[in-house]
Amino acid sequence: MGSRVTLLILFLVLCNGVALTMGFWRTKGEDKEEEPLSSDKLFLMMKSKHVAKTDAGEMRVLESYGGGNSDRRLNIGFITMEPRSLFIPQYLDSTLIIFVRSGEAKVGFVYKDKLAKRHLKMGDVYQIPAGSTFYLVNIEESQKLHIICSIDPSESLGIDVFQSFYIGGGAHPASVLSGFEPEILENAFNESGEELQKLFTRQREGPIVHVGDSHATSIWNNFLQLKEEDKLEHIVEEEIGDEEEQQRNWSWRKLLESVFGDEIKDTKEKRTKKPPHSCNLYDRKPDFENNYGWSVAVDGSDYSPLKSSGVGIYHVNLSAGSMMAPHVNPRATEYGIVLKGTGRIQIVFPNGSNAMDTHIKEGDVFFIPRYFAFCQIASRSEPLEFFGFTTSAQRNKPQFLAGATSLMRTMMGPELAAAFGVSEETMRRVVKAQHEAVILPTPRVAPAHTHREELLLHVIPKNHMIMGF
Ligand SMILES: *[C@@H]1O[C@H](CO)[C@@H](O)[C@H](O)[C@H]1NC(C)=O
Ligand SMILES: *[C@@H]1O[C@H](CO)[C@@H](O)[C@H](O)[C@H]1NC(C)=O
Ligand SMILES: *[C@@H]1O[C@H](CO)[C@@H](O)[C@H](O)[C@H]1NC(C)=O
Ligand SMILES: *[C@@H]1O[C@H](CO)[C@@H](O)[C@H](O)[C@H]1NC(C)=O
Repeated sequence: MGSRVTLLILFLVLCNGVALTMGFWRTKGEDKEEEPLSSDKLFLMMKSKHVAKTDAGEMRVLESYGGGNSDRRLNIGFITMEPRSLFIPQYLDSTLIIFVRSGEAKVGFVYKDKLAKRHLKMGDVYQIPAGSTFYLVNIEESQKLHIICSIDPSESLGIDVFQSFYIGGGAHPASVLSGFEPEILENAFNESGEELQKLFTRQREGPIVHVGDSHATSIWNNFLQLKEEDKLEHIVEEEIGDEEEQQRNWSWRKLLESVFGDEIKDTKEKRTKKPPHSCNLYDRKPDFENNYGWSVAVDGSDYSPLKSSGVGIYHVNLSAGSMMAPHVNPRATEYGIVLKGTGRIQIVFPNGSNAMDTHIKEGDVFFIPRYFAFCQIASRSEPLEFFGFTTSAQRNKPQFLAGATSLMRTMMGPELAAAFGVSEETMRRVVKAQHEAVILPTPRVAPAHTHREELLLHVIPKNHMIMGF
């Protein structure tokens, strides 16, 4: 033990020279990951509210707060449903974009006066527009269903985080229909008051209910047929007029396609894609990938319903010890949910002071206001996987502030050097030193995993300089 410490001290002394020359602005808080970070969690969404909680499942919502920011906001919801349960038919005053985190979901919703049914599996994304009646089912025997969703309050009544209008229901929750006077309902349904009484008083279990054996079986059968329907999609759901038109135009389209390529294909896809299919986040090829991680973005051009909601989706995986280069979203506010792993996130105020520097772990939800600079860093021990929503369905071109594809590189020149008050040569050297782009290794923040270095990190006194290894 003693000799090891002596060795360490020797090593430290040897390295001190290097450290002195390179550790200039990092003399304080060197091993930040070990220290409690600033307690200010300004951009973590922590105010969680149950909007539904029953034996069969729950939905809770994290409400976003704008802080006077006039940019669009999204709330983030988490739905958990036990095996064999039903989220009863309802419509909302907010557009919902659901992402299946785990398990399998069956969703039914009314689209253009028809009941559209979709079978959603892990990674699927599906949009349910405000005002569309829908239900959700977890028909699995033993697997729970976990859904994460964005809830867009831009069309909401402002009564609550969002407002549900239940179609099905009874004593609890109440169906919107039950508010009418009995004679109106009797008239409307052409049914005796006695029968209607039965219909509107039975349900007492809340918005998420267990489905009993007989119901479960028939729901299951209902969705078993779905596969056939899905296959026949084009034929079954195409309106005849449309089909005719398409055929007449077919040769024209073919010709135009050869000239204009994708554009025509896009309109053709739109025709056959109704009601829209889901889009799977896990099946997509990364838009960006290097040794340190990858990222995927889904926007309106990949999944057309997003065009109407103006919401984009992204998914990022940083390998252990990697970081996103500091960047900004010039077009959108970004909401993120940590799916796996741990790490850290830093956000900077417009005036250049640090707004938040905090650890993040699975289940944490953060948001980054439009224009704010920020970066995420995976912890040294495990990858960091997060996904989320942005308030833009167009390509949300993030602007990188450092790295091989950064603004700084693009702006490189005497003006930039003068702006920093350094020589052009210095400027060029600094800006060009980073060879990687977008996702970067972090040897400085997180030393490589050799034994000696890890040991050092733990033994070195807090305010000692250890840069340069
Ligand atoms: C109401 O129901 C009766 C029979 O149950 C039927 O004869 C009658 O046509 C119905 N009225 C309407 C308006 O549907
Ligand atoms: C065929 O395509 C043309 C041009 O895309 C369009 O104007 C027309 O309405 C389509 N339908 C028929 C039946 O021609
Ligand atoms: C993320 O990357 C790590 C390797 O760094 C890999 O083991 C893991 O499977 C990836 N996660 C996903 C969801 O692809
Ligand atoms: C920067 O702006 C933030 C938020 O407006 C404020 O809290 C902070 O005190 C400012 N810092 C400086 C150094 O002006």
